Amino acid sequence: MVSGCATVASVSAIGTKRIAVIPGDGIGKEVIPQAVRVIEAAGAAVELTSFDWGADRYLADKTTVPPDGFAALARDFDAILVGAFGDPRVPSNIHAKEILLGMRSKMDLYANVRPVRLMDASLCPLKGIEPRDIDFVVIRENTEGVYGDLGGVFKQGTPDEVAIQEDINTRKGVERIIRYAFEYCASNTKLDGSARRRVLMCDKSNAMTHAGGLWQRVFKEVAAEFPQIETQHMYVDALAMQMVRDPRGFDVIVTNNMFGDIISDLAAGLQGGLGMATSGNLRPGKTSMFEPVHGSAPTIAGKNIANPFGAILSAAMMLAHLGMAGEAQKIEAAVLDAVRQKKTTADIGGTLGTREAGEWVAQKVSSR
Ligand code: NAD
Ligand code: IPM
Ligand code: MN
Repeated sequence: MVSGCATVASVSAIGTKRIAVIPGDGIGKEVIPQAVRVIEAAGAAVELTSFDWGADRYLADKTTVPPDGFAALARDFDAILVGAFGDPRVPSNIHAKEILLGMRSKMDLYANVRPVRLMDASLCPLKGIEPRDIDFVVIRENTEGVYGDLGGVFKQGTPDEVAIQEDINTRKGVERIIRYAFEYCASNTKLDGSARRRVLMCDKSNAMTHAGGLWQRVFKEVAAEFPQIETQHMYVDALAMQMVRDPRGFDVIVTNNMFGDIISDLAAGLQGGLGMATSGNLRPGKTSMFEPVHGSAPTIAGKNIANPFGAILSAAMMLAHLGMAGEAQKIEAAVLDAVRQKKTTADIGGTLGTREAGEWVAQKVSSR
């Protein structure tokens, strides 16, 4: 890997996929090197180029995204592997907003796919839940909602202060994410090979009637194109309760940007915590981005204790997306072995450090 802004060979070896690697801040800088080591151990035909975007770079020269940065990512790379952004030295979080949210919206990575899978019963805080009981996916709209940061603050600092945060829902944006969810349901099986059957749309249309009304109408319209798929609707508050009481019935969940953010952390809790959760930020047919669901976790950063499996499994998701299903399966199987044998970090019951857990998985992968 090289550091700094990328210099990319203009022609890659045939079949070799070009990956931009952006570790970012905090534990992102610890877990991503482990994901890279495992990709290399899998023998994946990739060319990795590292970028130094993040808080250190911002504090050094005020750069968040270099000019032409997103265009270069889209032009020169097949996929992007990201760690996390967020640093107490940048209280405004401006770099995270411009890099992470910028990538999602400016590269139009509209489908945030967050699989929720339980690898081992010991990882689930609920009683009596087995791995076969939890295999669902949260499909989060990734470019609209309240994340556009539209609005303003008026009469700031006075008793009459007003803060307005707009929630943007376009028909195009709502329709494409709902259609993505139905297509995902129609074309993906569960890990045990059984078919996916149901798309659940989650909103808060009883209170947020304007946006909710659009989601409701579009959901019904798109559902009519997929008569073989069952549909279901839940308000987000009731869904949160059900996810904790009995998550066994969930299959494909589609929702807006903010609800998707919240319920995917809740769902991460079912699979062993944020250290285990993976995501893909997808724009079909274009350069897509893969990252663990967790953030930079500043309080545990630099201590070699962060769980690298979310990052490693996100890398596997990226390889599968790039057509390297065999390599992805090797990685997932090795992580499963690590979980079962407790060759893990402490958050999921082991005694290994971040590097040691990564090394264990890499060795397992290279011996397969
Ligand atoms: P966080 O995900 O960083 O941490 C939440 C909790 O989970 C903490 O207790 C943390 O120690 C634990 N945790 C997270 N990842 C872990 C791992 N791999 N192994 C073990 N434990 C892990 O969320 P937060 O504390 O709300 O936010 C911290 C910073 O990260 C903030 O600046 C936030 O904005 C940012 N953030 C960034 C992203 C991203 O870049 N995608 C995602 C979430 C939060
Ligand atoms: C995530 C994160 C981000 C989000 C933050 C860091 C802005 O929580 O990727 O889930 O809200 O999307
Ligand atoms: Mn989040």
